[in-house]
Amino acid sequence: APALDCITAARTGRPLGEAAITGLIADYLDGSVPDYQLAAWLMAVACNGLAVEDTVTLTRVLAATGQQLNLRDLAPFVADKHSTGGIGDNTTLVLVPLLAAVGIPVGKLTGRSLGHHGGTVDKLESISGLHLPADAAEFTKSLAATGIGLTGQSDHLAPGDGALYALRDVTGTVDSIPLIASSIMSKKLAAGTSACVLDVKTGPGAVLTDPTATLELARLMVDIGNRAGLPTRAVISDMSQPLGHAIGNTLEVAEAVHALSGRHVPGLTDLTLALAQLIAAQAWPDHTADRIRHRLHTALADGSALAALRRWVEHLGGDVRQIDDPALLPAADVRLAVPAPASGVVHRIDGDELGRIAAELGAGRARADSPIDPAVGIQLHRRVGDPVRADEPVAELHLRTTHDQAALLQRTAAAFTVADGPATAPPLIHHTI
Ligand code: URA
Repeated sequence: APALDCITAARTGRPLGEAAITGLIADYLDGSVPDYQLAAWLMAVACNGLAVEDTVTLTRVLAATGQQLNLRDLAPFVADKHSTGGIGDNTTLVLVPLLAAVGIPVGKLTGRSLGHHGGTVDKLESISGLHLPADAAEFTKSLAATGIGLTGQSDHLAPGDGALYALRDVTGTVDSIPLIASSIMSKKLAAGTSACVLDVKTGPGAVLTDPTATLELARLMVDIGNRAGLPTRAVISDMSQPLGHAIGNTLEVAEAVHALSGRHVPGLTDLTLALAQLIAAQAWPDHTADRIRHRLHTALADGSALAALRRWVEHLGGDVRQIDDPALLPAADVRLAVPAPASGVVHRIDGDELGRIAAELGAGRARADSPIDPAVGIQLHRRVGDPVRADEPVAELHLRTTHDQAALLQRTAAAFTVADGPATAPPLIHHTI
């Protein structure tokens, strides 16, 4: 029986080959291989790993289980970006307009994430009136008109990955480097852009917590992309504290507006420029690194990056006055300053805990169909390494009158470790691949 052969091969670490993998996944998706056999195979792969060739085949097979979009056909060069997810990660909101401003179109299908934080879709739709493209025609129109095509992940893209992921979720096989890499890259291959940049997070709350495993994951995804015909680069970026200063949907939109206005937002601006540099190097192979850097910095400084966001928001029916003045974005009823637990220097910020608090406030969703409160969240006033006095706020909570303010204040303050002596945050970019 072919499925049994695949399980035995995976258990003994023998490569499977293209025909066997293709057959296994096809038979699973048409119901002729039962869950328990695919689960056994997944567990063997999670324990023993998977040969690179087999991982590339798995990725291609998953990509071919649904629509193949070929977004690269919509313009001479179409970029894609993917993040493995982090607290306060609004990089897409800055990167995409910046690239559009320098003439690099972006086509991207993005997650509406579960749990901690809203996804990019939620952040954008926190702008009044804004609706992301609902179908392929609107998507194409948006890309043509603004240089930006962005919408929620479609159920038709790599549906085989969705089926596999559901099984992994209940069999303890999510945390497998080849399975994560093939899952993520199958969706990138199905989108079919010209080039892709990956932001692989490291630190607490990252998809993998071990730095060595994270590096291996990033290298494997880059390898898969390049072998499968999608030029791919990656950064491994630091998530030992939240990115930038904002956690929460409208707060992150306001922060993106600041960054696009050319103001330096610690972490956010630097990460955006690093990712943009990698994409631009692929779009403009004849440019030196310095020339690329100069063009990107100029777009932030001269207002063209912000203008690209404004054009995009306008095209999507959003209220551009909220871009011109982010104070007009939907706001929470209550703002509470979170006093520093002591005087000293911020040594640590528990981003996971801040993410949980933001989610409890309503910034994220506990279930796929629960609503999001766009206005709630946490504005950080200090990052790791910053000095603070006991009477100064480390953060501000944006919440509703119905929330238990005392408990939330106490928990938020406790997420900041303030102590004597200097503290340095880890570098923002750990590796570039
Ligand atoms: N994200 C994905 O899309 N797939 C995984 O397996 C893990 C994270």
